[in-house]
Amino acid sequence: MSKKDTELKPKPAPESGKGFSRRGFLGTSTAAGAVGSGLMEQTAEAAQGAGGKGITLAGETEITLNINGQPRKVTVEPRTTLLDALRDRMEVTGAKRVCDRGTCGACSVIVNGKVSYGCTMLAIDAQGKRIQTIEGFGNHPVINAFVQHDGLQCGYCTPGMVVAAKALLDRNPRPSSQEILEGMGGNLCRCGTYVGIKQAVAEAAKELRGGRNA
Ligand code: FES
Ligand code: FES
Repeated sequence: MSKKDTELKPKPAPESGKGFSRRGFLGTSTAAGAVGSGLMEQTAEAAQGAGGKGITLAGETEITLNINGQPRKVTVEPRTTLLDALRDRMEVTGAKRVCDRGTCGACSVIVNGKVSYGCTMLAIDAQGKRIQTIEGFGNHPVINAFVQHDGLQCGYCTPGMVVAAKALLDRNPRPSSQEILEGMGGNLCRCGTYVGIKQAVAEAAKELRGGRNA
């Protein structure tokens, strides 16, 4: 072998000592992963033992959610969002998944009286809370008002809009024009039907007051 060949030949990666090798790295990270998952299980056990009843850090677990006044059992992972639990595991599909990152409001539900984005709340955190979805609204006047005032085009934002409108009217039966804008401010309509939506909310408020203007 010539001197030139020797110079071009790549040096073998060191397997031990101060050097760093890919095989060594994989071995180390696998061991770290094993330690990490063991630690997680220990932490979960510790949480249970420390009175952290109901805390689950890994694996699936059965929880009970109060949906529209009914207790419903569902099996979820700790990372499962309320929206995913509703849509994918409970067949409650009124709340829509659009942005899936807390910006559009299509996934809106009412939790303990407040509008919440289902895509940003964990299902396990919704235990013990009153969850209202559009399926539980019956013939609420706000639904008819959206139809009467053309408050929708494609309709994808509409369930979330209706939920936000109901939550607004539940806490404020006489919203001003500005209060309607603010109350609906967490919901986006890409079709731009805001004029109809605002009229629908005002009309539903009037209807709920028995037709009185104020
Ligand atoms: S899908 Fe939840 S905010 Fe858009
Ligand atoms: S009606 Fe299409 S996004 Fe609102």
